Amino acid sequence: MASTDIASPSAAAPASDAPAPATDAPAPATTHARPRVFSGMQPTAALHLGNYLGALKHWVAGQVERDNVFCVVDLHALTIPEAVDPADLRAKSRAVAALYLAAGIDPEASVVFVQSHVPEHAEASWLLGCVTPLGWLQRMTQFKSKTHGRESIGSGLLTYPALMAADILLHDTDEVPVGEDQMQHVELTRDLAIRFHHLFGEVFVLPRAVIPTAGARVMGFDEPTAKMSKSTASERPGHAVLLLDPPDVVGKTIMSAVTDSARETRFEHASPGVRNLLTVWQALDGRPMAALEAEVEGKGYGDLKKRVVEVVVAALAPIQARYAELLNDPAELDALLARGAERARETAANTLARMRAAVGVGP
Ligand code: TYM
Repeated sequence: MASTDIASPSAAAPASDAPAPATDAPAPATTHARPRVFSGMQPTAALHLGNYLGALKHWVAGQVERDNVFCVVDLHALTIPEAVDPADLRAKSRAVAALYLAAGIDPEASVVFVQSHVPEHAEASWLLGCVTPLGWLQRMTQFKSKTHGRESIGSGLLTYPALMAADILLHDTDEVPVGEDQMQHVELTRDLAIRFHHLFGEVFVLPRAVIPTAGARVMGFDEPTAKMSKSTASERPGHAVLLLDPPDVVGKTIMSAVTDSARETRFEHASPGVRNLLTVWQALDGRPMAALEAEVEGKGYGDLKKRVVEVVVAALAPIQARYAELLNDPAELDALLARGAERARETAANTLARMRAAVGVGP
C-alpha cells in the first residue's frame, strides 16, 4: 500500500466545532490528578484579538485548575524561510512570551518556554515524522491554504504538523486549548499517537482539542468572511486589532469594520461582519448573546461598534501596561524563560526516552 493511502482514524470525521476527541479509540488512562494543558503560538508577527479570544484568554482562565505548559513555537516560524529575519525572530519570541505573561499567565503556576530551548522537540518531531503518512499531511487545510499560489514551498510547511504533534505529545498533554483553525492539527496529533502505538507500543497520552464556545474563529474586521490572520494583519491595517494597538487605533479599526446597509443586530439574522462584532463583544463581556442583542436592538451599527471598542480597549489596557513593564526588564524575562525551559525539559526528556526505547534508538 502506498503510504499516502493509509487511512487515519479521523479521516472520515466531519468538520465540527465540538471540543470532542478525533476518534473513539480509548485514551490510555492518565495518571494526572489535574488535566495537563499544552498550547503555543508562533512568534511570526504581532498577536491579534483572534489569538487572544481563541486561545490566550482561555489559557489564563483555565490556569488554576490545570497543570499548564505554554510554548512560544519559534521553530514553527521557520516554515517560510524567506520571511525570517533572525534578529527579529529572537525579539518576537521574547515579545510573545512577554504577552503571555502580560495577559495573565503566571510563570510559577504554568511552565512558559521557547520551543527551540528544549531540543527534545526537534528529535521527537523526527521520530513522529517517520510514522506520518504523506497523505495525512497533504490533506491539512492549512497546508493547502498556505501553499496556494506560492512558487517555492519549503518542506517545513508540509511537515509542520509532525512538529506540532511532538510539542503536544512530549508533554503528556490531555487538553490543547486552541482556536478552531488548529483543531485539524490536534486531531492529526491524536491519530499519529495511535499509529505510533500500533507500530511500537503505548507511549503517549492521547490529547484532545478544547475549542472555546465564543471567539474560536474571529474574522477580519475588513473582510468578515476570512479568518483574522497575523499575515494579513501585517499587510492591511484595518484587518485586525493587535494586542498592542493603542486605543485610537482600536477605535479606528472597529469603527470602520465592514457591516451592511441594514440594522439587523440579532446574531441569527445578522450579516458576517455584524456577527463578528457581536462575537467579539460576547467573548469579552461574558453575558449571553440575547442580553447583548437586547442592549443594541434598533440602535444601529454605530452603537454596537462603540460598545465593542469600549470592551476591547478595557481588555487590552492592563495587558499593555504589564507588557511594557516586562519588556523593561529583559534580563528578568530571559531568566524566567530559562527556568521555564528547564522545567519543560523534565517531562519532554522523559517522554522522548520512552519514544526512543520504543523504536530502538538512543544510547
Ligand atoms: P498560531 O500562532 O497561528 O495561532 C495561535 C493561537 O491562536 C488561535 N487563532 C485564532 N483563534 C480565533 N480566531 C482567529 N482568527 C485565530 N487565529 C489564530 C489559533 O487557533 C491558536 O490557538 N500551529 C499553531 C501553533 C502551535 C501549537 C502547538 C498550538 C505549534 N505547536 C501545539 C497548540 C499546541 C499555530 O500556528 O498557531
